[in-house]
Amino acid sequence: MALPKPHGGNLIQAFDPNYDYSLIEKEIKLDAIALSDLELIGVGLFSPLTGFLGKRDYESVVKRMRLSDDTVWSIPVTLPVTYENSGELERGKSFKLTFNGDVYGVIHVSEWYEPDLATEAREVYKTEDLDHPGVNRLFERGSVYVAGEVILIKRPEKGVAKDVWLEPKETRALFQEKGWNTVVGFQTRNPVHRAHEYIQKVALETVDGLFLNPLIGETKSDDIAADVRLKSYRILLEKYYPKERVQLAVYPAAMRYAGPREAIFHAIARKNFGCTHFIVGRDHAGVGDYYGTYDAQYIFNEFTEEELGIKPLFFEHSFFCNKCEGMASDKTCPHGTEDRVILSGTKVREMLRNGVLPPSTFSRKEVIEVLIEGLNQKTPV
Ligand code: ADX
Repeated sequence: MALPKPHGGNLIQAFDPNYDYSLIEKEIKLDAIALSDLELIGVGLFSPLTGFLGKRDYESVVKRMRLSDDTVWSIPVTLPVTYENSGELERGKSFKLTFNGDVYGVIHVSEWYEPDLATEAREVYKTEDLDHPGVNRLFERGSVYVAGEVILIKRPEKGVAKDVWLEPKETRALFQEKGWNTVVGFQTRNPVHRAHEYIQKVALETVDGLFLNPLIGETKSDDIAADVRLKSYRILLEKYYPKERVQLAVYPAAMRYAGPREAIFHAIARKNFGCTHFIVGRDHAGVGDYYGTYDAQYIFNEFTEEELGIKPLFFEHSFFCNKCEGMASDKTCPHGTEDRVILSGTKVREMLRNGVLPPSTFSRKEVIEVLIEGLNQKTPV
């Protein structure tokens, strides 16, 4: 099995640090999400996108999870500006893309349009409820979308993730160097708990390599901070994973919390990294009770394996069972809930805040130690 081709056929490369923007006067200010989207388009993680979506592609993605040329694409990647700022826009003109006063890129504006945000919320997030963090953000960002091809000129600071910030062209080369023909990608926005480790290692039994790929872009404020999570991954990898069969790299995208739609989006990005397989467990990219436990798995039935180009590996809700004395799921464990160690993220955060340690059957002690340290440092945990 060879590594998959990038989505749409070609790896988009739109990073040009020497791009001359000295004659471009006007600017569009990016928020943190647009900045990360710009970078991910630029390095090809969002291939085949070469810019922020135009109206035709946007409506097509919202309605039928495909770009207008039929390529599968499940989440709109858009550049919102406020209605007041849109007065400055000019079709065919280039604008600097800035964040905190620095120029990170340029957009060649092809058009702008007013999206139907309520429809986007309903179709993409399956709810218009403003308590949903993705929907809330959708309505808070601007009400006019600017479209056009982009050039990435400057890369945002990588901080503690510097050594594990790898571009798709680098991960593809690495996988080949390691001789991996099959690579399973793992998305996560949480510290690695026993259940994560279990499904990763079960998957690793059947493929050559595990690509552990924590998301470190914008998350909701009560998710564990990225630097704390990264520390926990590093410690676990060092102590409990076979070095030659695992590669850690960050996924610097913003979390959308769009459940099923985001599972497809996540899979496509991992295909661009060079993965042949992708893990989808219970309530992937979900939040609250907005999605059914396995909706993010069912959605894969809507596409052929060929058009997706990456194979999902589905996992049931897994847990430690005291009677089995090991990790299990409904598929393998005959015992009742009273024997199963199941804790929600909210419950774990509450325990940690109250100085109560979650059991080692839920999370390895090294991870708990890092989480407590994170709490004590008063980082936004
Ligand atoms: S996510 O928002 O990034 O999906 P999380 O980091 O919790 O959240 O999960 C990462 C991956 O592990 C997802 O595919 C998720 O479905 C899966 N997963 C998390 N916990 C479990 C569990 N207890 N059993 C099975 N799969 C799980």
